[in-house]
This record gives sequence, C-alpha cells and structure tokens, in this order.
Amino acid sequence: MIVGTQWGDEGKGEETHRRTKDADLVVRCQGGNNAGHTTVVDGQEVVLHLLPSSTTSGKPTGIGAGVVIDPFALVNEVSYVQTFGVKPLQHLTIDARCGLVMVYHRVMDMAKEIIRSRGGKKIGTTARGIGPAYADVADRSIIRISDFMNPSRFQKLLEQRLEEKTRILQTMGITADEWEKIFIQLRDKEITANQRILSQGLITGADLDYTRFLDYTRLTQTKKEDKDRIGFNVTEVAKAYFKAHGYFLDYVHVGDVSRMVREAIRDDKQAFIEGAQGAHLDWIFGTFPYVTSSSTIAGGACTGLGIGPGLIGTVRGVTKAYTTRVGNGPFPTVMEDETAAKIRGTGKEIGDEYGASTGRPRDCGWFDATIVRSGCAFSGVTRVTLTKLDKLSGVSLLLIGKSWQVRDTEYLFTPEDYVVAEDPDLKVNHITVGGWEEDISGIRSWDDLPANARFYVETIEKLINQEATQPIIIDRIGVGPGPDQFIDR
Ligand code: IMP
Repeated sequence: MIVGTQWGDEGKGEETHRRTKDADLVVRCQGGNNAGHTTVVDGQEVVLHLLPSSTTSGKPTGIGAGVVIDPFALVNEVSYVQTFGVKPLQHLTIDARCGLVMVYHRVMDMAKEIIRSRGGKKIGTTARGIGPAYADVADRSIIRISDFMNPSRFQKLLEQRLEEKTRILQTMGITADEWEKIFIQLRDKEITANQRILSQGLITGADLDYTRFLDYTRLTQTKKEDKDRIGFNVTEVAKAYFKAHGYFLDYVHVGDVSRMVREAIRDDKQAFIEGAQGAHLDWIFGTFPYVTSSSTIAGGACTGLGIGPGLIGTVRGVTKAYTTRVGNGPFPTVMEDETAAKIRGTGKEIGDEYGASTGRPRDCGWFDATIVRSGCAFSGVTRVTLTKLDKLSGVSLLLIGKSWQVRDTEYLFTPEDYVVAEDPDLKVNHITVGGWEEDISGIRSWDDLPANARFYVETIEKLINQEATQPIIIDRIGVGPGPDQFIDR
C-alpha cells in the first residue's frame, strides 16, 4: 500500500506509477475526484483524479467500494486518458458498492462553505462534493453504482433524493442569488478544468453547463421568499445522468473489487493499493476540521476494499522533502518568504506547487517531523519514499521542524485535542542544517549526492524514527518528476 504521510500532494501518483510496473493489479480505496495524482508519461504531465495512477501503463485496475464516484468526472477522465492512447476501461473494474457523488453533493459542498465563511471557518474544500457524499454514505442514503446500473431504480432514487436535498438546501440559509452563483461557479470550474477535452471535441460545453440543473421556474419568482426560489430541474438532472450512464454501459466493468483484490493476493499476484490525500487530511486523525471526509490512513484500505489488515504487506509512506498544504488549517512550519516562492514556482513547470485538482497555489513550508512521525505512525509505515529533494537545491540553510511546543509541553506527535494545533502559542522546535547548491536531478546513486543532501535525509530519518513502533527506513529518494528520476538507497 502507498499512503501520503503529510497533507497530500507528496507525489504518490508518480511513486505508484514507478512501483507498479510489474504489478498485476492496482486499486484505489478511498476519496474521490478531490485527489489529483500527477504522473509523467513520455515527458508529458498526466493528471488523474479518479482512475488509479497506473492506468496509463495499461495495468488491470480497480476502484474499490470506499471510493465515491462522480460519474461525469469519470466519463471526462476516461475521455482524457484516451487522448494518450490508453483504453482504461478494458482494464478497469468499479465496485458496485461505490457511492455516487451527485450534483446535489457538489452544490451542498459549496453551500456549506458559504455558511462556514460567515463564521470565518471555511475549510477550503475542492468543491467536488466529497464531504456531503460521504455524509450520505454514513447516513445510508447514498445512491450506489449498482443503483446507477439499474435505470428504473436509479430514476426513482434520484427523484426522491432531489426532493429531500432541495428541502435541506432550502433551510440552510443561502440566498437565491448565492444558489444561482454556485451553479455558475460549477460551470466555470468544469469548463476551465476540461479545456483539453473540450478543444478535442470529446465533450461539448453544454455537457459541462451546470446552470441547466437550475429550476428557473422557481428562481425567477423574485416575489417569493429566497428559500422557495431554490430548486433543481429534475428533468435536466435525470437527462444528464442518463447520458453519463450510456458511457458507463459502453466502457465500465462494474464488479466486486474486494473479491478481485482477495483473489489476486490468494493467487500470489502483486496487488498495489494507491491511497489518496495524506495522513493529516484523515477525517479522524488529521488536522480536524480542516480535513477531507475519508479515511486516508492505511486502515482506510481495509474498510474501503473489504479486506483484512493481515493482507496488507508493506505500507510505504510517500513524504515530500519539505511540506505543502492547500486549503485552510494549521500549518506550523509554513514559510512566508522568497524560499516559499522559489519552491512554489510559477505553475508552468512540472513539479511546481499548484493544486493538481483545483490549480490553487500550495502553501509551502519546512519539513515537519511531528507531521511525518505521526503520519507514519497512523499508517504503520515502515518504508518511505522521500520526494522532491531536488527542489531544495540552492537553499543555503534548511530548517527542519523537530517537534511542536506549546508553552511547557513538547509534542513529538500531533496533539489529540485538535485546538492545540491552532494555539497561537504553538512554536516549532527547529534545527538548521546546511543546504547544497548543486542540481541533483541527474544523480542516481546515494553516494553521488552532495554530503549536505545526504545529511538532510539522514537527519529526517532519525527524527521520524523517534518513538516509532517499527523502524522506518527512507529507501528511495525522488530527484525529479521523470519516471527514472529517483535514487534507491
Ligand atoms: P475536500 O476533500 O474537497 O472535502 O477538501 C477538504 C480538504 O482536503 C481541503 O483542504 C482540500 O484542499 C484537501 N484535499 C482534498 N484532496 C486533496 C488532495 O488530493 N491533495 C491535497 N489536498 C487535498
């Protein structure tokens, strides 16, 4: 299993791509299209959100029951990978138990952010509807892929849910203007995100126009109360989903991914589980409430795939050589200076620090051992791939966060009371080490790395092993985005 040990964006996509060359099966177990996994294929950047990162190598892949699927996003992504000559759906199985992210989840995600922002506590979600969809899983009201495959059952559920969700949205306190703006924003986001497949004529702008889901009959009745002007155009929503359903029937194999994984392991095949997001976005162990809505730690693979923990062999953590975060929430080692700007880049180069899903600039910070030590602990990580060491070349002095300190208390692991992470007195105990000037992106052996780069990695390894349950070894170091740009130590 491959997991992120920080706040996501550690480079799991590329690591999965590299590691799974000989794999027989690669599966996702949680999250949805809030994830953004970047790989480089023939020098070209490929960003996937729902499909496992090894899709581009034509491997058999699976999307496990714990994943929530926006059918429009899936269809768009399939169109996208086909432009690289990949036919993912000949190899892809989706678990019939997966929940569907519906338009009302996306709307609810944005409406909740509007309400939160009034209290000053926006989470900064990706607006993909992930939180509301998982809330429906827990509430037992999610529509599943198996429902989607049965048109009459789906139609009935869709009508019921639209009615229920409309009632809830009407009482949330958003205005009719905000309601309309949400749909316009959704349309604009989709159009921006799908420029490539739009220009290739694979879909049309009308397919991405979320304003067609607005009930204008109600919306234009300005004399009515705001809540009575909020509603969905049920016919248009159903029409859009049935169109996506047509693609599903053509391309997607719906089955039992849990059983596929178990059988692969029983038959001594190599199966990889690709985690999404990172340990500190976990809905229970992360920096609550600034987290995503799924279990992003290794245990999430068991619950998301329906397999026992004994079946998981090595848990590999992917850790960036520094820290980044996108969205809101505590970030104790954040840098506010030109070093951050240098690491972030302009967004034009592969590896620049901009959100793969939303394009938002990521906040950048020093390496934080408290975060990685806890991230490894929550997932039982024993092997670490340290990514993007090359990005630190040219920084003359490097800070490493050893532990957190709140007044007299030192924290080696993230505090169990989430408010401590936001305490204004929280300080980071740092050490400072010397940097290196050399470009290391062409180096392929540990011994050839500058002495200061080796010392940096060894220091990090020592720090994350403090009070560890099992030894944690950094055995691979990423020095660039290309498929061969790494050092096995
Ligand atoms: P949501 O997952 O869209 O609900 O967003 C909740 C938080 O998780 C926000 O801070 C997002 O920026 C963050 N998040 C979700 N997915 C990813 C990811 O793949 N990488 C980094 N951050 C993510």
